Amino acid sequence: MPYYRSVGEIPRKRHTQFRKPDGGLYAEELMGVEGFSSDSALLYHRNLPTAIVDAVQVAEDDRATTANLPLKPRHFRSQELKWEAPDDVDAVTGRRLLFGNPDVKICFAAATRPSPLYRNAFGDELLYVQTGAGVVETIYGALRVGDGDYVVIPTSTTYRVVPDQGEPLRVLVLEATGHIGPPKRYLSAKGQFLEHAPYCERDLRGPTEPLVVTGEEAERDTDVLVRHRNGLTRFTYAHHPFDVVGWDGCLYPWVFNIRDFEPITGRVHQPPPVHQTFEGPNFVVCSFCPRKVDYHPQAVPVPYNHANVDSDELMFYVGGNYEARKGSGIGIGSLSLHPSGCTHGPQPGAVEASLGAEHFDELAVMVDTFRPLELGEGAQACEDPRYAWTWARRGPDWS
Ligand SMILES: [Fe+2]
Repeated sequence: MPYYRSVGEIPRKRHTQFRKPDGGLYAEELMGVEGFSSDSALLYHRNLPTAIVDAVQVAEDDRATTANLPLKPRHFRSQELKWEAPDDVDAVTGRRLLFGNPDVKICFAAATRPSPLYRNAFGDELLYVQTGAGVVETIYGALRVGDGDYVVIPTSTTYRVVPDQGEPLRVLVLEATGHIGPPKRYLSAKGQFLEHAPYCERDLRGPTEPLVVTGEEAERDTDVLVRHRNGLTRFTYAHHPFDVVGWDGCLYPWVFNIRDFEPITGRVHQPPPVHQTFEGPNFVVCSFCPRKVDYHPQAVPVPYNHANVDSDELMFYVGGNYEARKGSGIGIGSLSLHPSGCTHGPQPGAVEASLGAEHFDELAVMVDTFRPLELGEGAQACEDPRYAWTWARRGPDWS
């Protein structure tokens, strides 16, 4: 994160003696990205964050992907994904792999129970909460999350997701292989959001107080599942890892709600980068929010046909009506994949229907990847095979 935050108790000077009420020393932990040459946080633990008593390799879930062959636009219905035991799904081990490439894995879960403690040591994770609510508990503190929240979780942050009782927490998860943050063009050289940025520091939420597990649970051996470059390992710690009494720095998990994205509009159609919200290694994330549309008297408000020459374009439809896709079978929860190599655009009749429109109420999250996305088992389980032919209204699966 670009700006400094301090939570809980910390000593006046870093790397000096900081004592617990019983006289013992708190244990410092410096989390520093890019080999301590970029943002960092300094955390103070009650126990040694190094104290592991076991490490066990965990069998990898099905993470195989298949190339998008034959190459074509595709439509997937996450709303139709089924889990064997829907009451026993968590937002970590219950993730279904939808898409993947060497830069990012894109997963989906409808979580109904707390996840195990977990961290991704390979890259940052971005959670987008489609519906439901819950708490993301982290070593930095807890973040209350709900509908429309993006949650950015830095690499190696130990956390778990605890859904509220009732409605499942439906969450799209991006597992990056590097860091995710606001686009650099929105930030000053020193990291402050600039005036042209569609959101700023006031729109972000971070942990406000420490999350310390106390009592017997604090002293018990505790498992943490770790995703790393070579798969999964379960560490057992000699105590609960949520024992941080304070921390400060510019590295911590944070939340941004999609409804706080202020759309950039124009007299004629604005290109997709105006919707950009985050950048990651070899991908970007954009938010399409309800907005007034193009106000030139002759404007065509829906997008022109376009060839995304250097990227695959994945769109997750989360709310409202997506004007350009009317008649395609796409609904709330759908994902469309428009790969590089295909031209795509509004469905037949959508251009004419949009003329004179003043407002779109669509809500969608777009992920553009700079290398082709392959299909995971989750995508293959919920594909609508007719989508590619919806512009011409004929093709192999059309009848
Ligand atoms: Fe597009």
